[in-house]
Amino acid sequence: MRLRENSANRVPRSLLEDRRIRWIAASAAIAALLAIPFVVKLDGRPHADWQQFLGRFHVLAVHLPIGLILLAPLLEIFGASRPALRQSAGFVLALGFAACAGSLVLGVLLAYGSGETGETVTRHMWGGIAVTIGSLLCLLARPAWESGAMRVVYPSLLTCLVCTLVWTAHEGGTITRGSGYLTRFMPAPLKSFSVFGNSSAAASPDSFYAQHIDPVFEARCVSCHGASKREGGLRLDSYDRLMRGGRDGAVIASGRPDRSLLLTRVTLPANDKHFMPAEGRPPMKPEEIAWLRAWIQQGASPTATALAGISLPQARKEIPAEPVGDYSALMPDIRAMQAAQGAKLVAVSSKPSDGLILSAVDVAPSFGDAQLQQFVKFAPYIVEAELGRTAVTDASFDTLAKFTHLRALHLEGTAVTGAGIQKLAALSQLTYLNLSGTRVSAAAAGQLAAMKNLTHVYLFNTPAEASAGQNQSELRGAQ
Ligand code: HEC
Repeated sequence: MRLRENSANRVPRSLLEDRRIRWIAASAAIAALLAIPFVVKLDGRPHADWQQFLGRFHVLAVHLPIGLILLAPLLEIFGASRPALRQSAGFVLALGFAACAGSLVLGVLLAYGSGETGETVTRHMWGGIAVTIGSLLCLLARPAWESGAMRVVYPSLLTCLVCTLVWTAHEGGTITRGSGYLTRFMPAPLKSFSVFGNSSAAASPDSFYAQHIDPVFEARCVSCHGASKREGGLRLDSYDRLMRGGRDGAVIASGRPDRSLLLTRVTLPANDKHFMPAEGRPPMKPEEIAWLRAWIQQGASPTATALAGISLPQARKEIPAEPVGDYSALMPDIRAMQAAQGAKLVAVSSKPSDGLILSAVDVAPSFGDAQLQQFVKFAPYIVEAELGRTAVTDASFDTLAKFTHLRALHLEGTAVTGAGIQKLAALSQLTYLNLSGTRVSAAAAGQLAAMKNLTHVYLFNTPAEASAGQNQSELRGAQ
């Protein structure tokens, strides 16, 4: 025991030397630890398998430093009456520091390897770094405390260390188990404010959620919040997952729209960096936000089929745009086609899965049924066909029925009369059809009523418009 002879003014030279080296080594270690978040860039993409393999042991390994570090203050406290316990406290703390450093390395491997990102992950990482540094500082401050000098430094450091540890462990638990873990089986009276009570229920297919909330998420959010990408730790592809929330906890607070993070994020100003959907994707429409708000307000139920104050004149389900296949391999053909016909195939976006637009506007007079026929090869990739004022006729309905991903079809100002128009029923994605200024008859337009997804039909200046006043297509044409 060097309890007494170690007091400051009688430290031998070699010990002083030792202590200097120890502080230099410690400073270097602290600098290295603080550099971790700047060196390891968490980019949200998964990396090497070995990193994930080793990293997953983090979840197991973390229990070791937690146990050791919590043991240290206990040994110090009970050591006041039983000195033997206090003798081992320094050793336990040293083991705690080593275990902490090891877990930190595994944790960084896990986050980097699996592509986990988000505020909670970042906070947890900083927590891990703080705990490692904290245990090192405790280790350095302890000898002085033990020898009777600097009586407050070590106990204060140790207290801070334990608090930081508890917080860090909680953040870690939130990442792996979701924020509702502790409250999930809480007795009902305790969690009357909690949204987790009903989170295991699946939504019924005829519920307002399934009919009007889920399709909106599907169309606007799931590309980033689904099975392949879980931005912010959040998935929006089922009721259960929606209610589980993301990195920052629940995103829906039943009955409390003002406390629901999800609603907050979609109603921010569009230029706010937290606005959802992110990256300038098409935002939710005002009526969709109104449905969402009313649904949350009235309990965010997975089964309720109607909501007070929300009337939907015609149950209109937003159909999610189905991605088309990758047409990159056809690029040479596409260019050759353009050169030959003059009709353009324009990419909707840089993503091939968003499809192509066929535009015959520039060559309209010379673009007829035969020319359209030549585009059949690209049919599955074409989402919009601009054939207004071209020379196509009713004969083209056969060809158009093969454009299986078509969402919008312009036939305004053409010679079509509507004979064979029912063939368009094969196009399940078609929502927009412009027939204005054609010779389409009321009978032909009537055929379109059966096509449920076709929500925008334009019949301005056609025989159909002139004859049938109360015709449903006519009503829709007025939209
Ligand atoms: C282009 C990708 C993208 C799209 C589309 C997108 N998000 Fe996000 N979302 C993110 C990213 C990245 C984060 C994490 C960073 C952040 O919190 O801003 C996030 C985070 C969130 C969060 C916070 C989760 C948490 O617990 O911190 C919510 C809520 C959210 N998104 C809702 C939505 C909704 C609702 C939609 C659809 C209307 C949507 N997002 C569409 C990328 C996207």
